[in-house]
Amino acid sequence: MRTAKRMNNLPPYLFAEIDRKKEALQAQGVDVISLGIGDPDMPTPQRIVDAMAKAITNPKNHQYPAYAGSKPYREACAEWMSRRFGVELNPATEVVALIGSKEGIAHLFPAITDPGDYTLVPGVGYPVYTTGAVLSDSNVHYMPMNESNDWLADFESTPADVLAKAKMMFLSYPNNPSSAIAPVEYFDRAIAFCKEHDILLVHDNAYSEIGFDGYKPSALLGRPGAKDVAIELFSCSKAYNMTGWRVAFAAGNAEAIKALGTVKSNIDSGIFTAVQDAAIEAMLGDQSDVAEMSALYQRRRDLVIDTLASIGLSARVPKGTIYVWAKIPEGYTSAQYAGDVLQKAGVIVAAGNAYGPDGEGYIRISLATPDARLVEALERIKTML
Ligand SMILES: Cc1ncc(COP(=O)(O)O)c(C=O)c1O
Repeated sequence: MRTAKRMNNLPPYLFAEIDRKKEALQAQGVDVISLGIGDPDMPTPQRIVDAMAKAITNPKNHQYPAYAGSKPYREACAEWMSRRFGVELNPATEVVALIGSKEGIAHLFPAITDPGDYTLVPGVGYPVYTTGAVLSDSNVHYMPMNESNDWLADFESTPADVLAKAKMMFLSYPNNPSSAIAPVEYFDRAIAFCKEHDILLVHDNAYSEIGFDGYKPSALLGRPGAKDVAIELFSCSKAYNMTGWRVAFAAGNAEAIKALGTVKSNIDSGIFTAVQDAAIEAMLGDQSDVAEMSALYQRRRDLVIDTLASIGLSARVPKGTIYVWAKIPEGYTSAQYAGDVLQKAGVIVAAGNAYGPDGEGYIRISLATPDARLVEALERIKTML
């Protein structure tokens, strides 16, 4: 059997690899604690589960779903955007349902880029911005991100020859993995830049609902002129502890939404309509569980930040996301450090370089772990040292 050449350029999916190592250690009897993947440990709020229980009994929901998302779902997405950010959208043309934002990111490549085109990708970011390009035979240019630019991807330094072939640019704030947040002026600069160079700006707002110390993330679509050039992705995964449900949406520029919807309608057949009904409850029902989740992650963030110095790591205090992005001691690569922590302490942390070239020298610690396990993991790392 011969597989496609591009498969050789595709790294194993980061967390599939971590899972493999975890299972190998567990088979040896090690009690592994994972601070690796960002998968909320708390259950989906009961109000959403109840909505699903009701929706699943409706026989209409047992048939093929509408490709772009049900009308009520798209209207609910538009209503949520209006209530949450003051952004007005036409649900018929400016919203498309996604089977999780990961799916949307991957399918943007065949919708927007041709082989040989460039996508501008943050120096650290969600790995699918890169693998989407690999799978569509297009190129990636990494926009530098580091401490000195506050982890705000430097799109302005993109070389002219790359810009001439650039079709799409990804940004994502609050940022995974660096947990950086972006001032709205930065969004304005990105919008102007993408307009000037005729590039689709994609803002992946997967952590839109998780903010600390009174900070509430904003929408890029809330900025003037954004819809001319941008789409934004929102997901129920982290906002409502619904990672397993696979429900999200893209909104914004109608031409880009149409292109994405066309690719999708040729590949997938939409989201189970009962799941869309539950997501309507998630977005339009009582939002007090959202505030409770942020308070929980903020408490865990403080726990981790208080301990970091004693284990030789340093980090900025995050204002959002469910991650602490920690600088590792000199003399280690990210992969060596993560490997040591796994072998000697039985704790999984994500090596920073897996998120892009600017991640070398860092690890990502996920806060999606019960408090007691989080404390134990940090104690084990301290003892190991
Ligand atoms: C920045 C970012 N984008 C997208 C995703 C994918 O989320 P979803 O569950 O909506 O596919 C994640 C998941 O961790 C993420 O961190």
